[in-house]
Amino acid sequence: MERRRRFPSARGKPQTAHPRFQGNRAQGAPAQQQGAPAQRPGDAWDQAATWYDALVGERGSEFQQHVVIPGTLRLLEVKPGEQVLDIGCGQGVLSRALHGVGAAVTGVDLSTRLVELARQRSQKAIRYLVADAGRLGVLADRTFDAAACVFALQNMEAVEPVFKEAARVLRPSGRLVLVLMHPAFRIPRQSRWGWDEERKLQFRAVDRYLSPLKIPIDLRPFRAPGQTTWTYHRPLQEYVTALAKEGFVINALEEWASHKESQAGPVAKAENRARAEFPLFLALRAVRSA
Ligand SMILES: C[S@@+](CC[C@H](N)C(=O)[O-])C[C@H]1O[C@@H](n2cnc3c(N)ncnc32)[C@H](O)[C@@H]1O
Repeated sequence: MERRRRFPSARGKPQTAHPRFQGNRAQGAPAQQQGAPAQRPGDAWDQAATWYDALVGERGSEFQQHVVIPGTLRLLEVKPGEQVLDIGCGQGVLSRALHGVGAAVTGVDLSTRLVELARQRSQKAIRYLVADAGRLGVLADRTFDAAACVFALQNMEAVEPVFKEAARVLRPSGRLVLVLMHPAFRIPRQSRWGWDEERKLQFRAVDRYLSPLKIPIDLRPFRAPGQTTWTYHRPLQEYVTALAKEGFVINALEEWASHKESQAGPVAKAENRARAEFPLFLALRAVRSA
């Protein structure tokens, strides 16, 4: 069975609790080295940019091409000429797909290096900006017909400012599509496959779900001392509450399973069943109140 994760996770390090709930530096988080320059937001993704760009390429990883990009385009319901914002655009894989269906696209990302790569890989008509998704002052109010944030929210420490900015820059009734690693089943270091020998069943084990967690992601050999990218696990209710607070109404929720099939063998049936039962991704579409 395909077990590759979107990010290889750090091994042998303690689980860290989210600092918002711990009130201190996350246990296990790398301390800023004495005399070392402060880590700028986006540094860790700058470090990972070459690796991530190679993983995603021009048209996306296998999952992006088969599942994520088609699903996102379908949920966004983009019409030619619409203004669409790609939040946490990375090296621009979704922006290019949106451009391909006729949207006027703006991509924003915190990583200078990924934005450079996005510009290199993309058509000139796509506008890319280096910006924090929670501080999009460079973009005017009520400019966009739709926005998407794919595989990026779980890399952001707080979602409230991101939804606040999305609500500000979207036009009334503008659509916002969010795509996440499924927060109920795919929690780095807190979920895994297991095998029930008696029932010949592959099951999914989940150790924790309701507690928000800050989980370091090991991007070695790309990580420099003191630099780590993080995944922020939140239960689904946190996303829904934060969206509602900014006046968004959710009108679609989809759970996308892997498109892959196991090769014939003694456990192929069990693996295929488990893969079809436990979705990899969660997609939400919310509409900004008029
Ligand atoms: C896993 S990548 C996803 C990139 C792209 N959406 C894709 O599907 O390939 C996560 C992205 O989130 C960006 N990111 C993290 N925090 C951000 C923030 N506060 N504002 C904007 N982008 C951010 C990172 O720089 C990185 O490009």
